[in-house]
Amino acid sequence: MKDRSFFIRTFGCQMNERDSETLAGMLSDLGYRETTDRNKADVIIMNTCSVRENADRRFFGNLGQLKRIKEERPDVIIAVCGCMMQQQHIIDTLKSKYTWVDLVFGTHNIHEFPKLLGNVLDERKKVVDVWDQADEIVEGLPAQRKHPYKAFVNIMYGCDNFCSYCIVPYTRGRERSRDPEAILEEVKALVADGVLEITLLGQNVNSYRGQIRNQDKEEAGGGTVMDSSGEYVSFAGLIHMLNEVEGLKRIRFTTSHPKDLSDELIDAFASCEKLCPHIHLPVQSGSTRILEKMNRKYTKEEYLELVEKLRRKTPDIAITTDIIVGFPGETEEDFEETLDIVRKVGFDSAFTFLYSIRKGTPAENFPDQVAEEVKHERFNRLVEEVNRISAEKNRALVGQVVEVLSEGKSKTNKALYTGRTGGHKLVNFKADEDVTGRMVKVLITESSTFSLTGRAV
Ligand code: SAH
Ligand code: SF4
Ligand code: F3S
Repeated sequence: MKDRSFFIRTFGCQMNERDSETLAGMLSDLGYRETTDRNKADVIIMNTCSVRENADRRFFGNLGQLKRIKEERPDVIIAVCGCMMQQQHIIDTLKSKYTWVDLVFGTHNIHEFPKLLGNVLDERKKVVDVWDQADEIVEGLPAQRKHPYKAFVNIMYGCDNFCSYCIVPYTRGRERSRDPEAILEEVKALVADGVLEITLLGQNVNSYRGQIRNQDKEEAGGGTVMDSSGEYVSFAGLIHMLNEVEGLKRIRFTTSHPKDLSDELIDAFASCEKLCPHIHLPVQSGSTRILEKMNRKYTKEEYLELVEKLRRKTPDIAITTDIIVGFPGETEEDFEETLDIVRKVGFDSAFTFLYSIRKGTPAENFPDQVAEEVKHERFNRLVEEVNRISAEKNRALVGQVVEVLSEGKSKTNKALYTGRTGGHKLVNFKADEDVTGRMVKVLITESSTFSLTGRAV
């Protein structure tokens, strides 16, 4: 058989990155190998994101470019999947304007991809198969990981929070937690394969509630990990469980919603030595009035209290966040509340976004959409403040020795190794020997807004 290859372009968050690893694993099982050259691939997949309008736009731009490839090589299979496909208006647009697409599937039937691809290949016809809802969680799918020493592990799928601006609950469906045993088994297998760091993934990991099925409950860690019924494991309980996995060095997670960040989890930072001192805690806005309109279910003061609690127990914890600028109805005063919370918390870093109207979300029809130029002006002020603080936080690490998981040589400078600290800060450093895949103590000698420089000691 001819050597066949695939190319996957992934947009969006870590959920999508993890899904693409599953698709790559399936294709690899089918005998395809990955290529970085889109123009030569036999199967091209676009795994899409619909969280903001520019993600939509980039996807359609890319898809436009694929038309030429399809014309030159009619045998190439063009497949599209991911969050955008869970919206009917997108499917309608694809059908009417992007006729060179061969296969469309969604977030809920990824496990069916090999079968769907087979249908397209055997019958030489187009296939559109998107499910409205998820079935039971499918375990045991293959994966081809991007990184040798760190891995994403899904612990739950979907989101039930319905923040008024957000499309995710519509594209990823209702919350479903994986069984703790399945997660434990996956983590042990990853560690056996050389993984040192895992990142537990969910849209809101704090509401993880995993059912204990077969495992001896004592082995699951007894009282500390289970709720009072003894049938379910909480998120903090899951971390306690994974903290016992031999050979695993680091546990991270993303994302946690402030409204249900438990004391149990705050304590886990102190009691689980593998849990990295970093929390990504999206605040979205500093104005309680806007937070209410966003349906976030916490106030500015409650958020600040959480930060104080986290720092009281774990003084060196790194706190990062997501912020939306220009939500409908946001006034200059509301925006100043956001600047104020940014200064009060002193985030290590923040992802900042211009509010983007999403079709089908409640905020789509909110009055008082903020004018583009106002949004941009506020956005620039916010970024300036966020960057100033990030640079300051990084500067404070100069002269200190930090522990870095070395992932190998830096892509931009082959003389340096690269990796991240427990606080998730990027470090480029010199080392006299090959330290790839090791935990390394690094003395920080220089800092900038987005990274640190140092040498192994
Ligand atoms: N589940 C995660 C977030 C997933 S989306 C959480 O709740 O933290 C990632 C980020 O995109 C969000 O935190 C939010 O800041 C941003 N975002 C989501 N919808 C958006 C929209 N319509 N416009 C602008 N930013 C948005
Ligand atoms: Fe979107 Fe809110 Fe769910 Fe996060 S918690 S995915 S922002 S609805
Ligand atoms: Fe985007 Fe879907 Fe993730 S909308 S942010 S890829 S959950």
